[in-house]
Amino acid sequence: MNIIILLVVCAGLVALRFVPKINILGWLAGWWIAAFVFLRWGIDPPLPTSIQGMFVAILTLALLAYLSADSSHFRFVLDRFVAFTTRKKYTIPLLAVIVLLPCLVALRVYFDVTQGPSPPLSSRTIHPPPPVSIEVAGNTIDLVNDDNPYRALETEDPAAFEEHVENGRRVYYENCVYCHGDDMAGDGLFAHGFDPIPANFQDATTIAMLQEGYIFWRIAKGGPGLPSESTPWLSAMPAWEDFLSEEDMWDVTLFLYDFTGHRPRAREDHGGGGDH
Ligand code: HEC
Repeated sequence: MNIIILLVVCAGLVALRFVPKINILGWLAGWWIAAFVFLRWGIDPPLPTSIQGMFVAILTLALLAYLSADSSHFRFVLDRFVAFTTRKKYTIPLLAVIVLLPCLVALRVYFDVTQGPSPPLSSRTIHPPPPVSIEVAGNTIDLVNDDNPYRALETEDPAAFEEHVENGRRVYYENCVYCHGDDMAGDGLFAHGFDPIPANFQDATTIAMLQEGYIFWRIAKGGPGLPSESTPWLSAMPAWEDFLSEEDMWDVTLFLYDFTGHRPRAREDHGGGGDH
């Protein structure tokens, strides 16, 4: 909530009390504008425009209900309205309103349909540098030298490896599919609500060029764990360490590679460090 806007709105309403001879129409307009300003600028983070529109519509109805609840107020407004539409001296303003209203609507429609093409949302291809090590559930994981602890099973015990991949599949379809998509192409149901959009794991610029430790880091720490210099945008990637076990996170990493057919980038054995 934006306190300054709220104070300005309240001050405006108080100030209305001191306007001499203000009538019910003035009050209604005052309240309508005050509520509109508050909904439009006073709420932080801002409400979606469709919700704003809904509130404004409800507010308009409420003010009309208030008006019609008092018959003298209602009569007064009705008289004004009849006078405005029938008296000769109002002919010109009346004509102006009759012409202006459809024009405004037409203008609005015109602007809505002629909006220029906006560039498609695209995912990020530059990978921020990971920390050297991270803490997950009290364990320290060395991102430079540690590998996926279950990767070795691929050759040593394929059946056990398969179980880890299967568990990864479950984890993926329970948690990640909504954003990263059925085919891991970054086009899940919610994907286009986000900027940047979720990573497309099929694309050669994501997991194919990264080590598993890096993937584990991104899964465990998510958008909140990114270094600040690499976040000019807000990543919606959740920090999964709060919801998944360490094993689940390693398993889903295996599954990402298994499903896409990519291989993780090999570790460079030169004593570690700075190879991202
Ligand atoms: C709410 C949507 C959302 C969900 C759910 C989600 N992600 Fe993400 N993910 C994103 C977004 C957005 C990005 C791209 C921005 C970024 O890198 O932080 C991303 C990026 C990633 C990356 C980084 C890839 C790269 O190339 O740097 C990995 C790895 C990842 N997600 C794995 C997962 C896994 C595994 C799950 C499920 C356990 C998951 N995500 C669930 C939104 C989501």
